Amino acid sequence: ARKIIIDTDPGKDDAVAILLALGSPGELDVLSLVAVAGNVPLARTEGNARRLLELGGRPDIPVYSGCARPLVRPVVTAEHVHGETGLVGLVLPEPRAAAQALHGVDHLIEALRDAAPGEVTLCLLGPATNLAMALVKAPEIVRGIAEVVWMAGARSEGGNVTPASEYNVHADPEAAAVLLESGLKLTLLPLDLTHQLRMTAGRLERLRRIGTAAARAVATLFSAADGMPAFEREEEGAPLHDPCVIAFLLRPTLFAGRFVNVVVETASPLTAGMTVVDWFGTTDRPANANWLNEVADREGFFDLLFERLARLP
Ligand code: BDR
Ligand code: CA
Repeated sequence: ARKIIIDTDPGKDDAVAILLALGSPGELDVLSLVAVAGNVPLARTEGNARRLLELGGRPDIPVYSGCARPLVRPVVTAEHVHGETGLVGLVLPEPRAAAQALHGVDHLIEALRDAAPGEVTLCLLGPATNLAMALVKAPEIVRGIAEVVWMAGARSEGGNVTPASEYNVHADPEAAAVLLESGLKLTLLPLDLTHQLRMTAGRLERLRRIGTAAARAVATLFSAADGMPAFEREEEGAPLHDPCVIAFLLRPTLFAGRFVNVVVETASPLTAGMTVVDWFGTTDRPANANWLNEVADREGFFDLLFERLARLP
């Protein structure tokens, strides 16, 4: 199985991504979860990570607490989407396992330094703060990384926080810049793609029939439509952003895109966090990211997700 570390800010769609990974032990070996401040403050994202591991029957997977705020800017949370707790509508018991004492950034450094070359794949489901910090602190860790797969960015779809920027990039544009300049093998799953995968009423119905606690939890999270931002309401059902990262690892052919140059805006207050994608190759900037903007098989994505949620407790 492919070794992965999930860096996350759960977050209702983060929760689905984590459960999808836990339901796929044949393909994915989840080494650890690292929490980052994002959708809700760090104490919540870290606690939610442990709650979700318990729900998925894997309390043995260690959880590390990473950065409490972005590299340069103040924290931007998204309670209007994810609720005050981050897991809107879902009440999970206080987890029994404690968080690890080691800081999440130092865990990344240790794990990647000890890894064989290209052994670990990093799944980023929130702002890129932890990985950027680790790359600044210990650039030699790139050796241990197979690739980075990140839910991030927006091109023709426009942003979901500002007209120009997607949340995970907007929350920490400087971290995004570090990552985009790292030379690492990088796949981005932007809003252009994730907006095509929505939890419609029909899919919620299918989910409720599965019968596992994990499937019920996802149905609960996605039934709480209260705080959906306007952009999400233009079509039926909330988008499943973060699970795309895990689905890509499980079935890369579900998605398609282009290997292009992506630069992030960090200077302009109007467009901070905007991903400037050289889709048509109008510059001579070298390609640095695989930008996935097409879903080749929508039903295939949901079949995969539901099949894996059925395998969990
Ligand atoms: C991203 O922002 C967060 O609110 C979601 O969890 C997802 O990672 C979508 O823009
Ligand atoms: Ca997230």
